[in-house]
Amino acid sequence: MNVSASPPRDHILLTGATGLLGSYLVRDLLLDGQPLAVIVRRSRKQDPVARVEGVLRHWESTTGQILPRPVVLEGDLTLPKCGLNSDACQWVERHCGSLLNNAASLSFRGTDRTAEPWLTNVGGTEHVLELARATGLRHLHHVSTAYVSGLRTGTVLETDLDVGQTFGNDYERSKVEAEKMVRSASHLETATVYRPSIIVGDSTTGYTSTYHGLYAGLRLGHTLLTRVRIGSTSGPALLHLLGVDPADHKNFVPVDWVSQVISATVRNPAARGHTLHLSHPQPLPMLTVGTLIQEAVERYSQAAAVDDPDLCDENWFADNLRTQLDVYQSYFRNDPTFDTTNTQTFAGHLPCPTLDMPSLLRMAKVAIETDFGRLPTPRQAQAAGPGRSVEANQTLRAAAPTA
Ligand SMILES: NC(=O)c1ccc[n+]([C@@H]2O[C@H](COP(=O)([O-])OP(=O)(O)OC[C@H]3O[C@@H](n4cnc5c(N)ncnc54)[C@H](OP(=O)(O)O)[C@@H]3O)[C@@H](O)[C@H]2O)c1
Repeated sequence: MNVSASPPRDHILLTGATGLLGSYLVRDLLLDGQPLAVIVRRSRKQDPVARVEGVLRHWESTTGQILPRPVVLEGDLTLPKCGLNSDACQWVERHCGSLLNNAASLSFRGTDRTAEPWLTNVGGTEHVLELARATGLRHLHHVSTAYVSGLRTGTVLETDLDVGQTFGNDYERSKVEAEKMVRSASHLETATVYRPSIIVGDSTTGYTSTYHGLYAGLRLGHTLLTRVRIGSTSGPALLHLLGVDPADHKNFVPVDWVSQVISATVRNPAARGHTLHLSHPQPLPMLTVGTLIQEAVERYSQAAAVDDPDLCDENWFADNLRTQLDVYQSYFRNDPTFDTTNTQTFAGHLPCPTLDMPSLLRMAKVAIETDFGRLPTPRQAQAAGPGRSVEANQTLRAAAPTA
C-alpha cells in the first residue's frame, strides 16, 4: 500500500446526527469547516440521506448560510459494527480520525436488556468500540450524561464514575455501563467523555426537536392543567403535589451551548482523554421550574373554559398527577453539584448562557405551540396563517380565575 497516497483521516464520524444535540453538532462542526461523516439509520418514511438533508435544510434556512454536505453512512448502533457494510468500513478507515458517539436511547425504563435503553446505549457502545477497532479509529468522543451520578448528593467529580451509587432509572444505569466500556477500551488511544446535565432548547430561539427532561414535566402540566380552570393550580401547589421541595435545584443547559462546547473541545488535542461535566453554573430552583410550567401552560395552552364538558376539578388533577408520577419521579429530585474543573480548563472561554424566565418561557412556547412535536413549528405555522397560540391566549384571558 502506498502510504503517501492515503488521504488525511480528517473526518469526524458522528452518530445521532438527526437528534436534538446531534443536529446542532452537525451545524456547528460544518460551520467550523470540519469534514464530517454521519451514521444515520433509515426512518419509516425516509432514507438516511433524505433525513440528513432535512437537518441541513433546517439550518440553511435559519442561518442563511449554505452548508457543505457530510458523508452519510447508513447504519444502526444495535447492529455489529453499527451496521456499516464493508465499503463503508473501508471508507471510514481511510477518511475518519475520530468518532463522536452521540446517539442514545433516552428511554428511562427497560429492565429487559434485549430492549431499549440497553440495546443502543450499551450494545450500541459495544458496536461503536468494535467499529473503532476494525477501522483503526484511535480517538473516541462519547456523549454520556451528568446523571451517571445516579442519586448521589454533594459534589460529583468529573473523575467519578462507579462509586457504588444507586440510580433513578435504567437509562442512568445503561449510560454508566457504556462509560465504563469506553474507559476500559484498550485499543483506543484516547477517550473523551462529555456529560451534559438536562438539555433544553436553544437559548436564543427556544427551538427544540425532542421533548425529554424539562419538557416531560411541561407536557404533564400541559396535559393535565388544560383540563382544569386557569388558576386552579399555582406553581408552588404543583410542586407540593409532585412532592418536590421548592428549594431543591435542577441543572439545565441549552442545547446550543452544549454543542458549542463539544464542537470546540472535540478538536482540542489537549482535552483528549478527559471527562467534562457540561452543567450550568446556576442550577434552577424547583420553585422556578414549577412557576415556569404554570406560567407557560396559562399563557400558551388551551385552558378549559367554564362550560367545557371536559372540565375537571382539582381532585381529578391531583389524582392524575399522582398516577403519572412514577414515570417522571426520577426528574423531581435535588441535583448534586457537578464539578466542572475540566470544562473550565478546556471551555472556560465559552460561558453558559443565563437561563432566565423569558428564555425558559420561549422554550416552553415552542414546545406547547408545536404540541410537543406533533404540529408544525411556528415558522411553518406562520406560513399557513394565524397560529393556534393566539386563539389559546384569547380563551385563557376569558376564563375565570379561581383562588
Ligand atoms: N436530552 C437530554 O436532556 C440529555 C442530557 C444529558 C445527556 N444526553 C445525551 O446526549 C445525547 C443526545 O441526546 P438528544 O437529547 O439529542 O437525544 P435525541 O434527540 O433523542 O437524539 C438521539 C439520536 O440518537 C439516534 N439513535 C438512537 N438510537 C439509535 C440507533 N440504534 N442507531 C442509530 N442511531 C440511533 C437517534 O436517531 P433516530 O433519529 O433515527 O431515532 C437520534 O439521532 C445522548 O447520548 C444522550 O444520552 C441528553
